[in-house]
Amino acid sequence: MTQVSDRIANLSPSETLAMSQKSNELKAQGIDVINLSVGEPDFFTPDHIKAAAKKAIDDNFSFYSPVPGYLDLRKAIVEKLKRDNNLEYTTDQILVSNGAKQSVCNVLLSIINPGDEVIVPAPYWVSYVEMVKLAEGTNVVISAGIEQDFKITPAQLEAAITPLTKALILCSPSNPTGSVYSREELKDLAEVIAKHPNIIVLADEIYEHINYVGAHQSIAQFEAIRDRVVIINGVSKAYAMTGWRIGFIAAPLWIIKACNKLQGQYTSGASSISQKASVAAFAGDQTCVEEMRKAFLRRRDLVVKLAKEIPGLKVNVPEGAFYLFPEADYYFGMSADGRQINDAADLAMYLLEVGHVATVGGAAFGAPKCIRLSYATSDENLIEAIARIKKALAALNFFG
Ligand SMILES: Cc1ncc(COP(=O)(O)O)c(C=O)c1O
Repeated sequence: MTQVSDRIANLSPSETLAMSQKSNELKAQGIDVINLSVGEPDFFTPDHIKAAAKKAIDDNFSFYSPVPGYLDLRKAIVEKLKRDNNLEYTTDQILVSNGAKQSVCNVLLSIINPGDEVIVPAPYWVSYVEMVKLAEGTNVVISAGIEQDFKITPAQLEAAITPLTKALILCSPSNPTGSVYSREELKDLAEVIAKHPNIIVLADEIYEHINYVGAHQSIAQFEAIRDRVVIINGVSKAYAMTGWRIGFIAAPLWIIKACNKLQGQYTSGASSISQKASVAAFAGDQTCVEEMRKAFLRRRDLVVKLAKEIPGLKVNVPEGAFYLFPEADYYFGMSADGRQINDAADLAMYLLEVGHVATVGGAAFGAPKCIRLSYATSDENLIEAIARIKKALAALNFFG
């Protein structure tokens, strides 16, 4: 019998994409669904970036690009790392890929042997654990609940480390929680890592610029572990460029070389036009970044205020990114119209089918009591969506 590989059979499909698809299906049936399940800014890419892409087309940037990315883009990234993060890198320590998603996967496939352990703090971005599985590594999940602001402690990290630990994936600001590690918190984690010289840190900083508590802090700033940190970042979230597919790593040379080899056989260099647009993003006027951050902050305040008015939801105030991650297990075990809510997936489905608001159940993020709402949409949509959620939840009871 012909069948897919075990590798693919064991891979879970992305639940965030599945919820988005389901929401689009309902929309196609004429139902007015508000989609809070997607992880992308609702803004258009700024004009000066689009202009650079148009120019690249006219200038015939239509040939294969170098595997690690054009030199001018890598120079712009080196300058960005100096300007925004006060970190020194050389252009040969930068590798550009088809989105930060490929960057993370490249690194894991390049450093993980079967059976190596990768520490993944939960709640986590859905793709990390699937990518670790692809690399035949073992996920070691550390859970950080809402009571600790969804952030792991140095003691938790220390306790999870074994002789098999190869990597830690740290995402700040975080998808799905919006939590942001402070400089002090990162310093304490770095001190633990410094004691274990075999551990590589994947620092996913894709939400760097969507931060409401001051300047972004990178764990790469700590000298003791600097040569074991891989920074992952890109243009998707900061410049509203999710469809352009440009991400990068800034890493020690041996990791760059390994990822270059993998990418050279697998996808080649990223889109030439998108790379030229990304030069304009990193090197051009940064006003757009601040404008979008301010809009997200206003929406954060709005959505937190409204969500806190819903009985039974435990709401954390996210310090970055554009997600709210309330604990909703108060409603588990309840029902309405013969529809039983047993877990967060049931609740998300109920909110979609009855409330017509798409969210994502927390199990996919390793946090089964929570649901994720993206507030990357208009104030008007947010007000209406939270009102619908409130109404749908109010209809649930233990006798329904
Ligand atoms: C935490 C995190 N890392 C990486 C990515 C991937 O970003 P990109 O669009 O650049 O592939 C995402 C996108 O949702 C994300 O949320």
